[in-house]
Amino acid sequence: MKTLIAYYSKSGANEAAAKELQKILNADLEKITDLNSRKGILGFLSGGSDASKKKNAKIAPWKKDPAGYGAVVLMSPLWAGLITPALRTYIDHNRERFKKIAFLSVSGGGAKNEQALPDLESFAGKKTIASLLLSGQEAKEKTMEEKLLEFAKKIK
Ligand SMILES: Cc1cc2nc3c(=O)[nH]c(=O)nc-3n(C[C@H](O)[C@H](O)[C@H](O)COP(=O)(O)O)c2cc1C
Repeated sequence: MKTLIAYYSKSGANEAAAKELQKILNADLEKITDLNSRKGILGFLSGGSDASKKKNAKIAPWKKDPAGYGAVVLMSPLWAGLITPALRTYIDHNRERFKKIAFLSVSGGGAKNEQALPDLESFAGKKTIASLLLSGQEAKEKTMEEKLLEFAKKIK
């Protein structure tokens, strides 16, 4: 069955990684859109605060039904060490429709944010079949491709 990559990205790093992974897996893409303004210093502060309180955000309607996919790769930057409010809303509405989940994130600290994974798994109510926490620096290096290939192998 096909894989769906559902991603939120504010400044483009996760979007770029999502598109790379899409090519490897021949997956479908679902872009998650946060309807709250996360621009400027106020957006930064509200984003960090909402993420740390594990709040949901209003998001635009999504288009694809995750139940039609063998696995869903959830992607988001990490804010205050946790998944973003927009991804939280997407999970909240769809957790019953996920057959399998994987998690991929590009964040400032990458693997240093390991606490994000158990939080995501507990919120989604499922263990991930694959996870990868990349730092912004790692996502710019050539070795990202190898890391994505390793990650993708666990999903296929
Ligand atoms: C509100 C906010 C809070 C953040 N908090 C963290 C954090 O706690 N830990 C971290 O490693 N990076 C943090 N970052 C950095 C982002 O995770 C990082 O820049 C990420 O690669 C951005 O992904 P994007 O370009 O897909 O939006 C934060 C960024 C923002 C905007």
